[in-house]
Amino acid sequence: MTDQITIRRPDDWHVHLRDGDIMRAVVPYTAAQFARAIVMPNLSPPVTTSAMAADYRVRILAAVPEGLDFTPLMTCYLTDAADADDIAAGFAQGIFTAAKLYPANATTGSAHGVTDVTKIMPALEKMASIGMPLLIHGEVTDSEVDIFDREAVFIDRILSGLVRDLPELKIVFEHITTEDAVQFVDSAGTNVAATITPQHLHINRNAIFAGGIRPHAYCLPVAKREKHRLALRKAAISGSVKYFLGTDSAPHEIHAKESACGCAGIFNAPYAMESYAAVFDEEGALDKLDGFASLHGPQFYGLPLNKGTITLERKAITVPEKLKTGGASLVPFHGGDQLVWQIAK
Ligand code: DOR
Ligand code: ZN
Repeated sequence: MTDQITIRRPDDWHVHLRDGDIMRAVVPYTAAQFARAIVMPNLSPPVTTSAMAADYRVRILAAVPEGLDFTPLMTCYLTDAADADDIAAGFAQGIFTAAKLYPANATTGSAHGVTDVTKIMPALEKMASIGMPLLIHGEVTDSEVDIFDREAVFIDRILSGLVRDLPELKIVFEHITTEDAVQFVDSAGTNVAATITPQHLHINRNAIFAGGIRPHAYCLPVAKREKHRLALRKAAISGSVKYFLGTDSAPHEIHAKESACGCAGIFNAPYAMESYAAVFDEEGALDKLDGFASLHGPQFYGLPLNKGTITLERKAITVPEKLKTGGASLVPFHGGDQLVWQIAK
């Protein structure tokens, strides 16, 4: 039995760091685990310009604890009015690493998102020509489509057309949750990849209703049936360079989660690597963790691999039920449960 594994320092290719007090509370967790992270722009107001992203990056860096070496990689929130020139200039200056497509009203902070992808074609064409990745929240927003079908319908109605029309565009299908998404990504060209969260590898939709309604197991895209979870596990451990780590850690304070209309989002940053390691271990695929967590992401983005390593060891750890940090009260993913791997100190 393997009891210790050393991998290259990992990155998180999808995280919500928020702003203000909650940002200062959560940044240390991500910075302790990852060398870099792709930071989502769904603030209020959203990060739509390179100037806003440059300012946001300064605020994030000020929240990184001393002694930690962490680089936030900024993204542009696409709206119907997306400015192709500012996006390209921001990318050229190293302010933007990618741009994010939220279909309008698909999820938290997406009210200013894109109402119709045809409206942002000039920006997408520009991005394709300069090699700037497009990150997609892949769910249709049509309320007549069952919430558990919204990702699969998005592939049929939007994503396949986009991939066909812009064959040069680098696309990351974010936080995939279905077997349909895995099949789509597998059969697409090398310009299409996907991130997978820890929660979608650990839970299926039953977890949201286990003995009562479980707001801390609710995120978007919502967890699906067991067969989908199994397909995601297979993809994550496959060794395919198309799949890489993206936690989608999305903190909301307890009162916003435990509410008659609770927010979507799972705060998994504090034990993210421990959570992924558990999955790879259960699958007998610890040898594939390095690729998923530390190699495939930078390769897809065309960024250098991190220097240095981290070591995980088989040593049980109980995840606190609640984390009170910087005035915020947050429930972490796996709160109250035991994880069998931890990062060696
Ligand atoms: O569960 C989610 N929470 N999914 C998203 O797409 C957004 C995120 C958030 O910002 O809270
Ligand atoms: Zn997200």
